[in-house]
Amino acid sequence: MPQLSNSLHVRDVASLVHPQTNLRKHVESGPRIFTRGEGIHVYDDAGKKYLEAAAGLWCASLGFGNERLAKVAYNQMRDIGYYHIYRHASHGPAIELAEKLLEIAPVPMSKVVFQCSGSEANDTAVKLVWYYWNAVGKPQKKKIIARMASYHGSTCASVSLTGKPEMHADFNLPFPNFLHTEFPHYYRFAAEGETEEQYSARMAAALEQLILKEGPETIAAFWAEPVMGAGGAVLPPAGYFKRIQDVLRKYDILFVADEVICGFGRTGNMWGSQTFDMQPDMISCAKALSAGLIPISALLINERVFQAMLTESDRQGSFAHGYTYAGHPVAAAVALETLKIYDELGIVDHVRRMEKPFLAGLHSLRDHPLVGSAEGIGLIGGIEIVQDKASRKPFPAEQQIPTKIDAKIRERGVILRLIGNRLAFSPPLIIDEAQIGDMFDRIGDALREFR
Ligand SMILES: Cc1ncc(COP(=O)(O)O)c(C=O)c1O
Repeated sequence: MPQLSNSLHVRDVASLVHPQTNLRKHVESGPRIFTRGEGIHVYDDAGKKYLEAAAGLWCASLGFGNERLAKVAYNQMRDIGYYHIYRHASHGPAIELAEKLLEIAPVPMSKVVFQCSGSEANDTAVKLVWYYWNAVGKPQKKKIIARMASYHGSTCASVSLTGKPEMHADFNLPFPNFLHTEFPHYYRFAAEGETEEQYSARMAAALEQLILKEGPETIAAFWAEPVMGAGGAVLPPAGYFKRIQDVLRKYDILFVADEVICGFGRTGNMWGSQTFDMQPDMISCAKALSAGLIPISALLINERVFQAMLTESDRQGSFAHGYTYAGHPVAAAVALETLKIYDELGIVDHVRRMEKPFLAGLHSLRDHPLVGSAEGIGLIGGIEIVQDKASRKPFPAEQQIPTKIDAKIRERGVILRLIGNRLAFSPPLIIDEAQIGDMFDRIGDALREFR
């Protein structure tokens, strides 16, 4: 039996499976329990305070507690705490939230489909891609292309989109018909002397080759995050989405933007699609939609997709899809209020103001001998730890240098997200300039121990 410090830990080890966790290590060493949140900080059960610079899982945009949203949830639970939206039933919070999302959508969108998580939003989108091509009489268009190292969720279909082999291994996934094209990571994979534009052209050519190899008549959709989050907070190289979208248009391929991380201000616009000039047919979003405080996700679909859904609904007798908690009134009310708070705070302008000190702090880390690259946009960014800057060579995995750096940064009271050799930043959007300074001071102190 592991030696654990208190009874809460013992109960946890006995009862709870933690996602994305080494289960053996967890059984041996137990969890770190977080007990309280206050603004952008969280406290563990030993009372240690952390600046949570990952916003939990890229989601706690307004920090780790919110009185106003708590009251909205409370009131909604008292008024009508549950009702579904099946078979023509509906309710105010879901309708109002859908209207608001269509109003702020980055490109003309026609309807909103609700779920509870980012994975489910992408899952719904996969179904609608297939539904669409069946409705318009091209059932052979079944294959979906996403990128290697992308992350789109953990459900069977969304993890099939995901380009992380460790998430497929021994789960008998991905499903057939899910393909993966190049991971557009300029710093890591650009050839000597290749410009970003040239690299983007190469990425688009690789996509086109894959489409031609598979047969364009079989390719249904392409999926992309504006900034790749769980791939390491990797920005698209200059010109990337312009060239990719040219290819998609050429072969009549639907484009789904996964805005689960980038939606709602993260990149300095309301949507990552605006930052990178993307014109998707569908947009999945979640996380900051409700400031991460209650589960809800939305899939925005354009009129082209909706017209096909009407055809199928006529053909089948109904749109035979749904979740008990889709558009849940409490979650929808909280999301609606979250969007009001963003308006009142001018969250997009705030992120643009904070981008300058954030990027200045991030770029200052490039002076460190082990930081090979440091780049970001808005309030998202990543650094890559290397053994040798000139060759961009990483440390041998068994030395676990990035893990040790991450642990030191935590010791200094900052939580980042460790992804392979990269450390990702996505602080709550309400972070201010003094807090950004504090964050980089602490990270700088931790990094100095690795010179
Ligand atoms: C880009 C992206 N899409 C989808 C998801 C899945 O969202 P969820 O964990 O809510 O299912 C995530 C989660 O981190 C994500 O980062």
